[in-house]
Amino acid sequence: MTEKKSFYITTPIYYPSGKLHIGSAYTTIACDVQARYKRLLGYDVYYLTGLDEHGQKIEQKAKEAGIDPQTYVDGMAESVKELWKLLDISYDVFYRTTNPEHEKAVQRIFEKLLAQDDIYLGEYAGWYSVSDEEFFTESQLAEVFRDENGKVTGGIAPSGHEVEWVSEESYFFRMGKYADWLLDFYKEHPDFITPNSRMNEMIKNFIEPGLEDLAVSRTSFTWGVPVPSNPKHVMYVWLDALFNYYTALGFENDLENRVDKFWPADIHMVGKDILRFHSIYWPIFLHALGQPIPKRLVAHGWYVMQDGKMSKSKGNVVYPEMLVERYGLDPLRYYLMRSLPVGSDGTFTPEDYVGRINYELANDLGNLLNRTVAMVNKYFDGKVPAFASGVTVFDDSLESEIASQLATYHKEMEAVDYPRALEAIWAIISRTNKYIDETAPWVLAKDEDKRDELAAVMSHLVASLRVVAHLIQPFMMTTSNAIMTQLGLPEVTSLENLALSDLPEGLTVVAKGTPIFPRLDMDEEISYIKEQMDAGKLAQEKEWVPEDVKLLENKAQIKFEDFDKAEIRVAEVIDCQKVEGSDKLLQFRLDAGDSEHRQILSGIANFYPNPEELIGLKVQIVANLKPRKMMKKYISQGMILSAEHDGKLTLLTVDKSVPNGSIIG
Ligand code: MSP
Repeated sequence: MTEKKSFYITTPIYYPSGKLHIGSAYTTIACDVQARYKRLLGYDVYYLTGLDEHGQKIEQKAKEAGIDPQTYVDGMAESVKELWKLLDISYDVFYRTTNPEHEKAVQRIFEKLLAQDDIYLGEYAGWYSVSDEEFFTESQLAEVFRDENGKVTGGIAPSGHEVEWVSEESYFFRMGKYADWLLDFYKEHPDFITPNSRMNEMIKNFIEPGLEDLAVSRTSFTWGVPVPSNPKHVMYVWLDALFNYYTALGFENDLENRVDKFWPADIHMVGKDILRFHSIYWPIFLHALGQPIPKRLVAHGWYVMQDGKMSKSKGNVVYPEMLVERYGLDPLRYYLMRSLPVGSDGTFTPEDYVGRINYELANDLGNLLNRTVAMVNKYFDGKVPAFASGVTVFDDSLESEIASQLATYHKEMEAVDYPRALEAIWAIISRTNKYIDETAPWVLAKDEDKRDELAAVMSHLVASLRVVAHLIQPFMMTTSNAIMTQLGLPEVTSLENLALSDLPEGLTVVAKGTPIFPRLDMDEEISYIKEQMDAGKLAQEKEWVPEDVKLLENKAQIKFEDFDKAEIRVAEVIDCQKVEGSDKLLQFRLDAGDSEHRQILSGIANFYPNPEELIGLKVQIVANLKPRKMMKKYISQGMILSAEHDGKLTLLTVDKSVPNGSIIG
């Protein structure tokens, strides 16, 4: 027996620093499509995704939430896994860098690099972007702030995030030492980076100007993997994170021989913003350790919105859950894979989303299936005639178009060019729809002498749909299964040796086909998506500006289960005072029946000029809102409810006889 060919593919491991949006969904689905494709071709696939859980950013997020970092990342990991379940991601491992095995492994790696003098102790002084977890020299900053004497006081990283000055003892990796080796490696592996043009970009922007040694430890925070021989240092999060691709295979604990089987990785899929880490630092780290280098990096562009980059502060973020809930999973997977051209950015618009569902899924594909199933029922009692070639004058051209698009599909799937692979499938669909118009089965049906031709047409239609159902299987599993079922075929389990003429004999289509994609009312659905995006925006504003209660008017309808998630309780005001530096906020200490008092900041100071008069009142609070930081230093653990009328806010009080902590609902 010959061994199965192996294939190892990875997504970047995401920072669990907020809810994941369609951008991260894109990368994860893109890898899922490739993993499923390779499995259908008989490969033994290992698909890794996971979380990058250390670093200053995560430490800060946890602090804002008022919980310890481990509890924070544990919670986030559950919600990310839930999202991948919703998107039907077929990962083999969900790897987290707080896994003790990983931590031990990177500690050994760090000490080895230190022992062989690739890492040395020095002093770092420069700019750091916590959001990007990246060091910058002044000349790399997109914008520099200066005081009146011209002294640089801060700046903005190319990503748009603010940088801070860091000056501390640090370990450094001798990147410069390996620059020539890297250039040689690129020369010998011109296809290392897809798209190819990005390799030149890396050379011109980062290697030719001189590869500086990289700071690989920090001392000013603690949420990271400690350097064993000098534990006041934690490892730089990127060093820790990149090695996940390797340690996840088992490293020195590799009972299943996964390193042998899967290393080096076949594809690391990455966004353009993190290509530098993967194409420069990662190969150098591995080379320094004598390890083989991954075969290929596939760098993709970003999904952006019409008003630019998706960002929480802009309130233009689109979350996958909303789209799946309303339209199902397959349209989302299709849209995301279809609309981002390889190597460049793509714009998400509600118009495009609804348009593609209606035109490409419901019209082109859905109608082809409906018409085919209806005609086989009408003309042949549901029994699919045996495949016969060369019967009508249109058969040849249909067959050769399908054979050529099949070859294109495989070529583009290997190239990880999904828009083109999907175009090839849709070329088959349109050609087949055209074949119906050319052969006009309704005319053939009127002539008993044309029975053979009618039979040949039906068999070609079913055979073509069978091919289409195979080709879409990695992208849209449910739709593929539904088409196969309607044609009386079992679900797709292999893409090997797929040919149009291999249509099994004796098939019976379902008596009545059901549409696989309902037609959508364009205007209604476009407004729906826009509304949801706005609702997200309001929720975002509400998070940071609680005094803007009036923004909550006319929100989208919610289900009872959604309302029921809120825990509203009675709380007694123990103390209340103005917040220094704010003319809107009052700081409350409340007894809400918890073991300790809680603090809530509320934007009602304008309406209660004598805060001390509120002491002793019983109010209503939302008790399970995620705690958040306000005015940079106060943690607010909930929200106090008030009623708004004509711009005036009045606290919602409760009779004094109701015990503290009573649930309202
Ligand atoms: N933790 C690092 C990766 C470490 S890998 C060893 C990281 N995480 S991230 O969560 O910030 O980003 C993960 C990926 O999401 C990146 O590849 C990034 O390019 C991608 N995207 C973030 N926003 C995106 C879009 N709007 N569109 C497409 N991809 C986007 O970086």
